[in-house]
Amino acid sequence: MVKVVVCGAAGGIGQPLSLLLKQSELITHLALYDVVNAPGVAADLSHINTRSTVTGHGKEAMNEALQGAHTVVIPAGVPRKPGMTRDDLFKINAGIIRDLSEGIARNCPTAFILVISNPVNSTVPIVAEVLKQHGAFDPRRVFGISTLDVVRSSRFVYELDSSIDPKSTRVTVIGGHSGVTIVPVLSKIPGQKFTKDQLDLLTHRIQYGGDEVVKAKDGAGSATLSMAYAGARFTLAILEATVAGKTGLVESTYVNLHADEEGTAAFRARTHLEYFAQDVEFGREGVSKILPLPELSAYEQALLDAAVPELKVNINKGTAFITDASKI
Ligand SMILES: NC(=O)c1ccc[n+]([C@@H]2O[C@H](COP(=O)([O-])OP(=O)(O)OC[C@H]3O[C@@H](n4cnc5c(N)ncnc54)[C@H](O)[C@@H]3O)[C@@H](O)[C@H]2O)c1
Repeated sequence: MVKVVVCGAAGGIGQPLSLLLKQSELITHLALYDVVNAPGVAADLSHINTRSTVTGHGKEAMNEALQGAHTVVIPAGVPRKPGMTRDDLFKINAGIIRDLSEGIARNCPTAFILVISNPVNSTVPIVAEVLKQHGAFDPRRVFGISTLDVVRSSRFVYELDSSIDPKSTRVTVIGGHSGVTIVPVLSKIPGQKFTKDQLDLLTHRIQYGGDEVVKAKDGAGSATLSMAYAGARFTLAILEATVAGKTGLVESTYVNLHADEEGTAAFRARTHLEYFAQDVEFGREGVSKILPLPELSAYEQALLDAAVPELKVNINKGTAFITDASKI
């Protein structure tokens, strides 16, 4: 039995993400939880002729939805509106993530938790702190999905050089998942030499790609379809490793660095960061290894230097939301 729960399943991301997950043979039970319309989305998806059972769970049925889950994917919350930064979302989404994490700690404390809700730099620490309070935190099992940055990187590089295959060209993206904290490591793409102008253009588009979508949707939300694609890619990689036992799978993802104490000790001592996005190799228990940082160009090192202080603020904000709620 492999039960995957999508929290926020009736939303702009949740619906197409659930559609993509319904196609996986690795999932036996797809449980859709949302405060609105989950039974409707579930009934619709349940007619698709793959093996998994689909169930819908409304507002009052969070515990039932989460009970015994193998993996919980969370795109629940509010998306960004024009003029809003990811950080502006914090107050609303932080509370939603806290409540869902409480539900996970009670109903499926060993589940893999994949967080999409923004600001990811802060929502992942919130999940961790709630689980710690319940004695259920395993850093190998909690992930911030930053895959959209990776997907955008390959696509935007392809727009400059159509000789690469955008699907198989995986760009490492380190740091965090908002604005300046997103650090694409473009220097490691085989065969690529970008000019300074091209680097500036690519970096800006990757760091602020979300804004292009928010603006084009003109008040109707943020990235949903490309995010669902990225979210499904990440979720399926986790399932391939944890259910099917596939080895050698690597994705850039935002994790708690204690998931690999030994591998990250020097980096933690140098930066005093507890969370960071980096290439992670998956295994049966989730994180099997956090890969060493690639050698950065001077351009990328400058981006990382700018990212670290911002990342610290975001992490502290998420942590303090749980550990010191009176100060928020
Ligand atoms: N990680 C990323 O790269 C990335 C990219 C795009 C958007 N996002 C984030 O994903 C989130 C969802 O975006 P969206 O466009 O799907 O928004 P949306 O408003 O279309 O959908 C959110 C869904 O969450 C549901 N919801 C709200 N509170 C809930 C709760 N307590 N329990 C369960 N469900 C709840 C809503 O009813 C809604 O159906 C936002 O925080 C957005 O910023 C992340």
